Amino acid sequence: MPVFISSDQRTFYLSGGNTAYILHVDEDRRLLCPYWGSRLPDDTFFYDPKDYFSFISFDLPVLRLPYDVPACGTGWYGTPAVAALNAHGDDVTDLRVVSFRVVPGKPSLPGLPALYAESPEEAETLFILLEDTLTGLQAESCYTVYASSGAVARSLNIRNNGPEPLRLTNVRSASVPLWESNLDLIHLKGAWARERAVIRTPPGEGEYRISSARGASGHEENPFLALCDKNADEFSGRVWAVSLIYSGSFEASCTVDNAEHARLGIGLNPAVFSWLLNPGESFRSPEAVLVFSADGLNGMSQQYHTLYRGRLARGFWRDRSRPVLINNWEGTYFGFTEERLLAIAEKAKEIGVELFVLDDGWFGKRDSDNCSLGDWVVDRRKLPSGLSGLSEKMNALGLRFGLWFEPEMVSPDSDLYRAHPDWCLHVPGRSRTEARQQLILDLSRPEVQDYIISAVSGVLSSASIDYVKWDMNRNMTEAFSETLPPERRMETQHRYMLGLYRVLEAITSAFPHVLFESCSGGGGRFDPGMLYYMPQTWTSDDTDAAERLKLQYGTSFVYPASSMGAHVSAVPNHQTGRSTSLRMRGDVALAGNFGFELDLTQMSPEDLTEAAALVSRVKSLRDLTRTGTFWRLLSPFEGTETAWAFVSADRKEVLFCAYRTLSVPHYPPLRVRLRGLDPGVWYKTEDGAAYHGSVLMNHGLTVPLKGDFTSFILHLKAE
Ligand code: DGJ
Repeated sequence: MPVFISSDQRTFYLSGGNTAYILHVDEDRRLLCPYWGSRLPDDTFFYDPKDYFSFISFDLPVLRLPYDVPACGTGWYGTPAVAALNAHGDDVTDLRVVSFRVVPGKPSLPGLPALYAESPEEAETLFILLEDTLTGLQAESCYTVYASSGAVARSLNIRNNGPEPLRLTNVRSASVPLWESNLDLIHLKGAWARERAVIRTPPGEGEYRISSARGASGHEENPFLALCDKNADEFSGRVWAVSLIYSGSFEASCTVDNAEHARLGIGLNPAVFSWLLNPGESFRSPEAVLVFSADGLNGMSQQYHTLYRGRLARGFWRDRSRPVLINNWEGTYFGFTEERLLAIAEKAKEIGVELFVLDDGWFGKRDSDNCSLGDWVVDRRKLPSGLSGLSEKMNALGLRFGLWFEPEMVSPDSDLYRAHPDWCLHVPGRSRTEARQQLILDLSRPEVQDYIISAVSGVLSSASIDYVKWDMNRNMTEAFSETLPPERRMETQHRYMLGLYRVLEAITSAFPHVLFESCSGGGGRFDPGMLYYMPQTWTSDDTDAAERLKLQYGTSFVYPASSMGAHVSAVPNHQTGRSTSLRMRGDVALAGNFGFELDLTQMSPEDLTEAAALVSRVKSLRDLTRTGTFWRLLSPFEGTETAWAFVSADRKEVLFCAYRTLSVPHYPPLRVRLRGLDPGVWYKTEDGAAYHGSVLMNHGLTVPLKGDFTSFILHLKAE
């Protein structure tokens, strides 16, 4: 079983795949993590404090202990996993192990998104209860280990078991010591329209911190941080990674101590969080997912992909082919009529598109982004037959119909705001900072949650709607709820997230056959929390094919192709002004959930013919790209060429994709070694060319890329 307990009941091996995470309770009942890395046989590891600190030292010996749940004030000086101010005004918290228990499978986390197990054999969960006897603060540390990979999902349930109130000021879902040095740090940094660029850097001395305080995981950083061996690459070397299943403000850090040893942590952002715990109350942290790979960065990503595609995403669409869609946003922006939409839809049907998505602008009086958010009533000026009429007409054309919403927002110019001016996040007496001329509804309030559930459900029930794009276009300011008492106002951001998750659970379970795609000004909330409710996310508002290489490559560090919305848009591209061929745009977009985002009535007959061929190609490849093992082969962050491949689980089918942005003269042809194939079989292309698996993996494939912004796709099947 994944959890092995030593006979003295002091050492716990959480093992699966090629990984072990070892916990030890020392003689003073402190909970330590003396090892996380390649799998060790059970019962072979012996904790020896001398491995961790020198006895001849002026430092406190307890300083160097490999704490698994570090707290404040008894010799640990780094960022604590649990920090709580007590009624005496100090924050000393001395956590000692009280008891443990193991259960098969994985219990859910009430109210929070989390990984799950489908059978008790897949995973086992260890709960270790720690307590500070003076205050009565109890922290139950939960670890689920997956048998197939050794990935560990962990969270903390903190309870006030004492007689006086406590105030939590920091909660880290994971804070893991690594008895390692000489490492590089990797995170995904960005901005609107260029999200999740791969940053690799030495952590340096002291603390390297990434965070979001925006009330969304954000465009700027993703809730993910990894350390790897200096010489690790995509295919070899050790990698330790943490990812947080949360969509709000977060903080992650790597600390290197004065003995060069690193610690990796992730959790809530203490700059915008504190939580009052009255006697008897509990607080549950979001879940962190810890992945170790001895096979480089692809090994790390493939573990995340398997978990996030199959044990985080849920519901009807989890294991189904996603429809080829057309979204009208870049095609028409706000300037559409029913007639224009139907003209685009007719062309879409002709080229094989399956779903028409109507984006922003269908409700209230919304001719630009300055009004009507909150008034989810169809605008009959633009859509005289309403949503039901339009969706019926789409269905009559043979297309399914989808709709855009931004339910968390309110425009000051809206009936909703006029009726409930207090329903937005704000601080009484201060002005309300607008962004995109909108404010954010206070989702910590149950009546606001109920309004959103009823407004969105009402629209979804009123017409034939098969898809929803759930957008969120600004970050929080004055992020406080008027309804909370002053001593609880710092809870607003997290209470908002809990409210959002309640709303998403209610709506997605009431409409189980609707395909939901999340969005936040593009990829501003591309995180595991949203993927629990919605199996796909709009990757970025940047639809330029060359930029998309970086976007999709960086996103794939954590997230599977099945989660990435990827559309072909018009040229010159609206974000970069760059023109690329339809071929290149299509070859990039087919590596995600494929769609179009342009006015098809403006396309030439030749381009429409090419687009139809592209759609039929996408349909023949989409199950492979959704479920295949994704291999990054050449990085767009390191040169002008990008390559990746999808390999089916049985290794019988392969899709190899290569792209060049700018060509360079007088170079030998590009040759790329494939990975993960069957080395004992011949693979054939549709036109009969044969390649041996062993040759493709060892000698490589010569890639005929000519010119700027070109692509090359090879679909191989084993004989
Ligand atoms: C931001 C999204 O990312 C776009 O795709 C589009 O839906 C706009 N919002 C609409 O306002």
